[in-house]
Formats: sequence, C-alpha cells, structure tokens
Amino acid sequence: MKKITIAIDGFSSTGKSTIAKQLANKLHYVYVDSGAMYRAVTLYAMQQGFISKNVFNFDKLISDLPKINLIFKFNSALGFAEMYLNGMNVENEIRSLEVSKLVSKVAEISEVRRKLVEQQQQMGIHKGVVMDGRDIGTVVFPNAELKLFINASAEKRAQRRFEELIKRGDKVTFDEIFKNVQYRDHIDSTREDSPLIIADDAIEIDNSDMTLEEQFNNIYKITLDKINEVS
Ligand code: CDP
Repeated sequence: MKKITIAIDGFSSTGKSTIAKQLANKLHYVYVDSGAMYRAVTLYAMQQGFISKNVFNFDKLISDLPKINLIFKFNSALGFAEMYLNGMNVENEIRSLEVSKLVSKVAEISEVRRKLVEQQQQMGIHKGVVMDGRDIGTVVFPNAELKLFINASAEKRAQRRFEELIKRGDKVTFDEIFKNVQYRDHIDSTREDSPLIIADDAIEIDNSDMTLEEQFNNIYKITLDKINEVS
C-alpha cells in the first residue's frame, strides 16, 4: 500500500496528538508533534531569560535560533518520540502551563516558524508521516493526501488538559487552563504568519461527544479509504 502524508490540525487540546499517535502506531508511520518543537523553542527562550511574563526579547531569541537544536528520539517503552532540546530530554518540561502561557507568542515569530517548518518538511520528505499542529495542512504539507481538522468545545478541551496536568502532579486550576486554551485559540487563529485556518480540503471532526474508541475507528476508516483511493 502506498504511504501517504497525514496532516492533523486543530485548536489547542483537541486530542490531536492522541489520534496522531494511534494512527502512526497502527500504520507504522512516523509521528511528529510539531507543537513540541514550538514548545521547546519557548523553553529555550525562558531558560535564557529572553521571555517571561513581562519580558519579550524576541531579537535575542531570533539571533540565537541557530544555537537551538531540536531532535525527536523514539522511546520504545512509551511508544512515541520524545523532544530533545540541545541534547536534553525536555518532554516533560515543555508540557507545563508556564510554557503553554508563552508558546503562542513565540509561535507568532516568522523566523521561528521558518526554521521549524523547514525541519518539519524534511521529516516528512519520504511520506509515511502523521504530523499534528496548526498549519500542517495549510503550510507544512499543503499537498498532504489526508487532512483532518479536529475541534471540540473550549470547555471540553480545557477539562481534558486540566485532568492531564493534575494527573502528572502540576498545581493548576481549571480556570487558568480554560483561560489559556481561549487565549491560545485567539492568538493562533489571528496571527499574521500561518494562522490556524481550516484547509479547503480538510475533513472536519468535532470530538466533543466522541469516546476515544469511536474517534479512532472513525478516523482509521477515513484513512484506509484515502490510502486505497490513492494506491
Ligand atoms: O496544547 P496543545 O497540545 O493543543 O498545543 P501544541 O500542539 O503543543 O502547540 C502549542 C502551541 O504551539 C500552539 O498553541 C501554537 O501557538 C503553536 N503551534 C503552532 O503555531 N504551529 C504548529 N504547527 C504547532 C503548534
């Protein structure tokens, strides 16, 4: 069967990465979480003191971009690839609310996007890739054979992310997660460079009231139909 490119876009905390990981495992494709790359660049800028709640020194971050090395390393125990920033495993740190609060401002910077999009396109050059993010079907892989756009209500998304963070022991409130989800939705969809928009040829899926199993079965069928259609 022919290998295709699968682009999964959507608003924050829609469960894109869960679907993308499941699909990649089932099809033996490579899974790439493009958001992890924006998060890792944000963590770097935080560590260097270039950004914080009140500081946004984007010029320093831009001139440091060549020093930022991002690599995904597959962890067979977990079944997915973890993010390494300059040789350090940052998979856990990049998921914190502190990073979530700053990442959308970093993702607005065109120089950052250019660097990451180039690396993402390289990772998908041989197809057989499932990548999730905000601009995958519109900018990174405009020719992807399958484009999915996932959505759910802001309340449901915030509740899912809240439970995830509580489970790993973070001290967060539902209210601050809900605010962060809405804040990122706004910045991501109104920024000038590569805003989050639905590609004309994307299939929209609202998973507010779907179980994980229903969602997977539904999307897996769509995927197999597409692979058969192009093979
Ligand atoms: O929290 P969630 O898993 O939904 O987000 P993420 O996929 O980890 O992405 C974090 C942030 O990175 C987003 O809110 C966007 O600001 C940015 N991003 C982007 O601009 N373009 C992408 N392709 C992926 C993420």
